[in-house]
Amino acid sequence: MVTIILAQSQDGVIGTSGGILPWGKNMRSDLQRFKEMTTGHPVIMGRKTWDSLGRPLPKRRNIVISRNLDFRPEGCEVARSWYEATRLAEGEDAFVIGGAEIYRLALASADRIESTIILGTFRGDVLSPLPQLKDQPEWNLTGQELHEADARNDWPYMFETWSRVAAATDTQQRQSFVVLEHARSEQQSRVMEGIQDRGECPFCMENLAKTHTNPILAEGAHWLVTRNRWPYEHTREHILIISRRHASRLGDLRGNGVGDELILLMQNLEAELGIESGAAFLRFGKPAYNGGSVDHLHFHVIVPDMDGDWEKIKVKMGVNPKKITPTPA
Ligand SMILES: NC(=O)c1ccc[n+]([C@@H]2O[C@H](COP(=O)([O-])OP(=O)(O)OC[C@H]3O[C@@H](n4cnc5c(N)ncnc54)[C@H](OP(=O)(O)O)[C@@H]3O)[C@@H](O)[C@H]2O)c1
Ligand SMILES: [Zn+2]
Repeated sequence: MVTIILAQSQDGVIGTSGGILPWGKNMRSDLQRFKEMTTGHPVIMGRKTWDSLGRPLPKRRNIVISRNLDFRPEGCEVARSWYEATRLAEGEDAFVIGGAEIYRLALASADRIESTIILGTFRGDVLSPLPQLKDQPEWNLTGQELHEADARNDWPYMFETWSRVAAATDTQQRQSFVVLEHARSEQQSRVMEGIQDRGECPFCMENLAKTHTNPILAEGAHWLVTRNRWPYEHTREHILIISRRHASRLGDLRGNGVGDELILLMQNLEAELGIESGAAFLRFGKPAYNGGSVDHLHFHVIVPDMDGDWEKIKVKMGVNPKKITPTPA
């Protein structure tokens, strides 16, 4: 389980670029709640928040996300991506403790948000990237406590707990996440049989590393970019852009900027991999129809191999009526 924990003003201010808390140090009940909730659990933070803390938080595994390969400070574990951070904290109740960049990455994976709202107006140039949760159908307010200012707290404040509404999919359709007939090699077939036996979605973030061995090239709040483990024949590049949350149909995609982020990631790929021409396509809905092997919405970006004897790239799509399993009512 992943919990986002943050404190913010009514206007969504969470910090200053200098790392000083906008409401000062005398909001002790918030600090105490933070300590009680996170002690004994891994805490995941961005490199800037780590810098502003100045030391590891005691009695917690400190996981710090940075792109800088030379960043190796004492007292913390370093992750190169949000995805790697979640791998490090796998199986534990992890707390995402900021800052803004990391909250944005964590939102799609979070199950719970613990928010302290400091009831005042403060100056600060770091704003919460979280949407207005009351407008989000996937989030429910499951706890709320209002407190007055007192000797230990300079401002009145509200504790709020938001819980993600459980997705309706999961358990019932467990077995149908992969279509073995669409495997393109012996090895892929074997790997997919294992996935089938476990009954889990291989593209969901908590499972991806079990069968996907290629590095993560980039990630945003909505999408993760990596190379296909079994590239199509005659491609120079075969990239997958996978939805960070489980989605099958297009209607399952949620959240602000999901389309913009996709284009931005593809533009970065084009520049970073020196891609001059290629094709991109989306597999959504049931693999039996869309020709894919995994029932989890993903894009393919393919670049032809122009060296040597040029060959057409063939992409499977369409329906084999014999292979369609009826959807359970
Ligand atoms: N009110 C609260 O509850 C709260 C909690 C925490 C922090 N804060 C405030 O938030 C501010 C800091 O937030 P911030 O958004 O500026 O910084 P941040 O999220 O703490 O850290 C940003 C850094 O994380 C790394 N990073 C971000 N995305 C990454 C990715 N996809 N892959 C790998 N590394 C990635 C980069 O480190 P490198 O540059 O090393 O590559 C980036 O510079 C401070 O003012 C702090 O006081 C407030
Ligand atoms: Zn999935």
